[in-house]
Amino acid sequence: MPTLEFPELADDVIRLRAWRDADADDQLAGLTDPLFVRHSDVPPLDRDKIIRRIAGLDRLREDGSAIYFAIVAANDDTEVLGEVSLSDLDGGTGRGSVGYWLLSAARGRGAATRAVRLLAGWAFTALGLARLELTCGPDNPGSQRVALRSGFRQEGLLRSHQPFKGGRRDSLIFGLLPADLAATAP
Ligand SMILES: CC(C)(COP(=O)(O)OP(=O)(O)OC[C@H]1O[C@@H](n2cnc3c(N)ncnc32)[C@H](O)[C@@H]1OP(=O)(O)O)[C@@H](O)C(=O)NCCC(=O)NCCS
Repeated sequence: MPTLEFPELADDVIRLRAWRDADADDQLAGLTDPLFVRHSDVPPLDRDKIIRRIAGLDRLREDGSAIYFAIVAANDDTEVLGEVSLSDLDGGTGRGSVGYWLLSAARGRGAATRAVRLLAGWAFTALGLARLELTCGPDNPGSQRVALRSGFRQEGLLRSHQPFKGGRRDSLIFGLLPADLAATAP
C-alpha cells in the first residue's frame, strides 16, 4: 500500500494527530494501565520501548499497512486522551481493523466513540475502504459499548481466536459498513 499521510481529523472535543516522542510518558501510562493490561497481551514496557514503538508505528504508516493516532483534546494538542488505530490494510481486501484505548482520566466522556467515528469516516471516504472490523474479548463490555455506539454491528463469536496470556481467547467480531456509519450519525 502507498504511504498513508496524516489527515486533519477533529471535532469540537477531540483531535487525532501523529504520536510524538514528547507523548512517551502518556503512552506508557496508557499501555500499562490495569484495564488495558487486563484486555491486552502486551510485554512489559518502559519509556525506551515506547520511543521505539512510536518509531515503529511510523514505519507501518510509511509502508501503508497501518496508521496509529494519538487522541488529544481539540483545544490543547498536548493533552493526550488515548489512541485509535487502523491496521491490517496491506491485503488489498478493502478492509481494515480498528483498535483503541483511553487513559483512565479520559474515560466516560465519549472520546473513544468520537475518535472511532472520525477515523471510520476518513477510512471510507479518503481510503475507499468497504468494511471495518473490530474484535474484542467477550469480557470487555466497555470496548463492546464503544463499538456499538460507533455504529458497528456484532457479527459473531470467533472461537479460540488468538493467543492470549499463555492460552487462547475467544473474540467477539464487529463490522462497520459505510451505511452503518451514516445511519448512526449523532
Ligand atoms: C474501551 C475504552 C476505550 C472505553 O472507554 P469509554 O470512556 O467507556 O468510551 P467512550 O470514550 O466512548 O465513552 C463512553 C462513555 O462515556 C459516556 N459519555 C458521556 N458523554 C458522552 C458522549 N457525548 N458521547 C458518548 N458517550 C458519552 C457514555 O455514556 C459511556 O459510558 P457507558 O459506557 O458507561 O455508558 C476504555 O475502557 C479502555 O481504554 N479500555 C482498555 C483498553 C481496551 O480494552 N481497548 C479495547 C480493546 S478491544
